[in-house]
Amino acid sequence: MPATHVIGLLLGAEEDWPAAFESLLERVAPSITQGGVTHEFTTERVTIEPFNLRAVPRYSLVIDRLAWWYHMPREWLKKVALMNEVHLLNNPFTFQSMEKHAAYCAMMRLGLRVPETWMVPNKVPPDNPRFATTADRYVRRFDLEGVADAVGMPLYMKPFDGGAWVGVTRIEDHAALHRAYDESAERLMHLQAAVEDFDVFARSLGIGAETMVMRFNPSRPMHSRYSVAHNFLDDDTGTEVVTIARLVNAFFRWELNSCETLLKDGVVYPIDYANATPDLAVTSLHYYFPWAIRTLLKWVIFCCVTGRRPTVDLDTEKYFEIADREGLTYGDRLNEYRRLADRQLDVDRYQEFCARHLADVDEITVDWVESDDFDRLLIRTVISTYPEHEREMFLGHFRGLLGLWAHDQRVAASA
Ligand SMILES: Nc1ncnc2c1ncn2[C@@H]1O[C@H](COP(=O)(O)OP(=O)(O)O)[C@@H](O)[C@H]1O
Ligand SMILES: [Mg+2]
Repeated sequence: MPATHVIGLLLGAEEDWPAAFESLLERVAPSITQGGVTHEFTTERVTIEPFNLRAVPRYSLVIDRLAWWYHMPREWLKKVALMNEVHLLNNPFTFQSMEKHAAYCAMMRLGLRVPETWMVPNKVPPDNPRFATTADRYVRRFDLEGVADAVGMPLYMKPFDGGAWVGVTRIEDHAALHRAYDESAERLMHLQAAVEDFDVFARSLGIGAETMVMRFNPSRPMHSRYSVAHNFLDDDTGTEVVTIARLVNAFFRWELNSCETLLKDGVVYPIDYANATPDLAVTSLHYYFPWAIRTLLKWVIFCCVTGRRPTVDLDTEKYFEIADREGLTYGDRLNEYRRLADRQLDVDRYQEFCARHLADVDEITVDWVESDDFDRLLIRTVISTYPEHEREMFLGHFRGLLGLWAHDQRVAASA
């Protein structure tokens, strides 16, 4: 009995990774028979149009890159999650309500070393006729400098629900503090202690049951923020960084998210980990791009064939119980969280599934990266991203990095 799974791609302006995903899926052409059913796959780009709340969508799974800023598809995602059991990589409820602020709170509750963080009332209050009376009665005058001193300078002022560095300011003195607060206007802000002179910025991209930890340099231009670096963390720190990323994802039910951690003197500080629409562009991920597309493909196939379903509810108590258990060290707790997270993300089953049904995907991906097809995709992306006089340089740059990835894969496979 055949079952064709339609994978919906809910997209905005990006073209590179969706085209890559479609092209790799076509090459792999998965056909997996399990329990008498043959599973096959096709993709479709989701269009925005009026919908009946009772309509039954065609999709088995939707990869969403749009709902973070567009409300109509956001509400459609909630409907298909609640009513139609379409698998969504990120739980639309936690993704939209548990933004950065809630993610900080949850991970502090679990004992993670999130830097000291305060919230301050928005500079420009809500535009509501009730505000004057409410303010008179309840809104306390406060001393911004006092809060900053409690957090400690230098600090970062940033939106409580932020993303893409919008409105993020590093602050070293009171004058800059007042300036940034005035500019924040209606936006609700956090003040967060800066992790100064950190040794390493590690950014983890979590896709389903896999996590890639990459060395990151935020002060570089986009195309060179990720460096190609292996073994830049010792084993224990590497495990800790992966555990934090998995924990965040399992806790909130996210399967496509990135997590920023700063390492200083052996301590791992998570600073930004509610990024449930992470950057997947070939022009920023370069060397790691084939891994991302390959993993997305494997995860999507795994979810569809095994019937993984979205869970709207969270098991927060299970995690809090570990946080509250007496006699555990920080390391013990992380180990316990990791067990829960790996179970939630189906890590063992996923690995077995890949070994059994998707063993050829790695090699097909390498062939694909070395193909003319892939090169054409790269050329198209470079043309649409950079001005004419920079194109040749960037094309050479990305060709080099992607060629290096393919080479490294071949070496690893023959070892
Ligand atoms: N507490 C901090 N210590 C050091 N650097 C920080 C801190 N908070 C933010 N930054 C810097 O500012 C950048 C943007 O802040 P972030 O919290 O990641 O916001 P966004 O959600 O907009 O990406 C980070 O990538 C990092 O370089
Ligand atoms: Mg960030």
